[in-house]
Amino acid sequence: MNVHTMTAPADERYEPPRPFAEQANVSDPGIYEEFEDEWPDCWERAAALLDWHREHDRVLDDANAPFYEWFPGGELNAAYNCVDRHIEAGRKTQAALKWEGKRRETRTYTYQDLYGEVNEAAAALRDLGVEEGDVVTIYLPMIPELPITMLACARIGAPHSAVFAGFSADALATRMESADSEYLITCDGYYRRGNAFNQKSKADNALMALDREVTTVVVDRLGPDLDHGLDAGQYDYGELLFAHAGATVDPVPREAGDMLFLMYTSGTTGEPKGITHSTGGYLSYAAWTSRAVLDLEPEDTYWCSADIGWITGHSYTVYGPLALGTTTLLYEGTPDYPDRSRLWEIVERNAVDVFYTAPTAIRAFMKWGEEYPDGHDLSSLRLLGTVGEPINPRAWNWYREHIGGGDCPVVDTWWQTETGGMMVTTLPGVSSMKPGSAGPPLPGIGARVVGEDGSPVDPGETGYLVVDRPWPGMFRSLYGDDERYRDEYWEPFSEGDDWVYFSGDGAKVDEDGYITVLGRVDDVINVSGHRLGTMEIESAIVDIEGVAEAAVVGGDHERDGTAVHAYVSTDHSHEPSEALRERIVASVEEAIGPFARPEAVVFTPELPKTRSGKIMRRLLENIANQEPLGDTSTLRNPEVVGEIEATDDEL
Ligand code: WTA
Repeated sequence: MNVHTMTAPADERYEPPRPFAEQANVSDPGIYEEFEDEWPDCWERAAALLDWHREHDRVLDDANAPFYEWFPGGELNAAYNCVDRHIEAGRKTQAALKWEGKRRETRTYTYQDLYGEVNEAAAALRDLGVEEGDVVTIYLPMIPELPITMLACARIGAPHSAVFAGFSADALATRMESADSEYLITCDGYYRRGNAFNQKSKADNALMALDREVTTVVVDRLGPDLDHGLDAGQYDYGELLFAHAGATVDPVPREAGDMLFLMYTSGTTGEPKGITHSTGGYLSYAAWTSRAVLDLEPEDTYWCSADIGWITGHSYTVYGPLALGTTTLLYEGTPDYPDRSRLWEIVERNAVDVFYTAPTAIRAFMKWGEEYPDGHDLSSLRLLGTVGEPINPRAWNWYREHIGGGDCPVVDTWWQTETGGMMVTTLPGVSSMKPGSAGPPLPGIGARVVGEDGSPVDPGETGYLVVDRPWPGMFRSLYGDDERYRDEYWEPFSEGDDWVYFSGDGAKVDEDGYITVLGRVDDVINVSGHRLGTMEIESAIVDIEGVAEAAVVGGDHERDGTAVHAYVSTDHSHEPSEALRERIVASVEEAIGPFARPEAVVFTPELPKTRSGKIMRRLLENIANQEPLGDTSTLRNPEVVGEIEATDDEL
């Protein structure tokens, strides 16, 4: 386990600022007890935030645990809940989406505009043959067409599988193959630091690798800046909309348990996992947490800086905020282009009320200095949030002070792709905040820190973060792999009929029940908010001619939290070389994407192994982080440690 979180002085805590608490959606501390007393019926409150086509018969059916059914009997449509009903409520001229493009273009979609385009896109997809239950892959950068096509899929009951635009062609092909997806929505390209970048050629390469017919829709993002041709089976998005101008499609009622979407994430094997989320439970939970934790109101302008290609953007840029009828902001660019004031200029100009970002970004802002936020009027902000990695108290305090002006609560929210929504965090109008600690489990959530034997650890001790009760936002399974779902997530800590979900994270808990998440205890690393499986990276490296073995670990990185460090041994006929190092980096970029690029490649004659032949990743992690090595007596080849350390020092 990577335990590098600095702990805050034990007495450092902040109370919710009174003006915030007075207006907060949730301000009664009694909510924790109410949820305990009423559980599972407390979750009626989440379901009640949505409009149902048919009311559910029960809140929870656990007969087939750990395959839980939330709100069985209920039927609803997610797009109807995120769009139509706000128009019916008289808010058609309110902005639903505000987009800030990389070249300072802006676009605003009112709820009426969103309704129009979602319907046209839904009609077009249907005409292309998409039927209820077909998986549509969406491979788009942060442009409005990404949430719009997600909602269009939801409208016709076709689960979407969004693949982050930075993934490589190979990674896209693997995900499409695994999801049996015959439809792809992509674009010609996008701007990266002012240059046109070709996305379609990546998509085309992925399509060539697949041996099935794929119908493809291409959004024209770059206009004349990039000329792209359309092959057979490829359609221009703009032309499709034009051909379906004014069309409407009735939202398809979906059963609560029907799949709304799939999202691939990394696990402990080389195979990415398709996390499947339900329509009723997921959407209720995204809406509920957006209301209780992000404190969202329809009047708010809200900005989550995460890419929609990951779970944070799904739950907290698209589904949660739109279900509540909020104005949600989308930003296409990076925080430092064209300059380091870009985000703060956007906050000021749009009078953003609530801002949600990642610790990596906050550490970068801190490094650049306070003059950038200080130069802008950020007084519209009421609440700040973070997600994705542990946040150290210094960064937390800086965020509160320099972005929040000292009077915004900061919510440090722990959750995962699998959990669908936030699980451990303070309620901003209720709980005191402790920098460096995410907080107590949310009302009704059974998050606990336990030892190997499953019993709770004492305050201050380190253990495993588990969840001992189901919750509405939970994933339903892994696409096509119920067995792996059971084995990886439920086997480790469940006993008999007491089903316990294992998160893969290590954590500790204090006397007040506040949980500090320490990081992954499995072979998953978190690089600037991107979750990567070390095995996926290793398999890209061992594919290269000349490489005998590879082990990938996370090394500390000042800004990104963690960086990819690869330890590689060559086979008998190859010597380490600069050319080989370059091939290794290129191969990882090709297999996954540039965001998984190893920061360090260390050649070593052998990898440290236990007597039973297992690579000792922990030891390499300690070397990467220049930490004491602990007990190396179980090593078969202790002499390699000195050799690796010597090479590492040269980096
Ligand atoms: C980590 C992102 C500490 C954790 C929503 C988890 C965090 C993984 C926090 C999930 C936090 C997320 N404090 N660590 N507030 N939030 N994590 O699936 O290791 O991309 O298991 O979901 O991020 O990453 P994922």
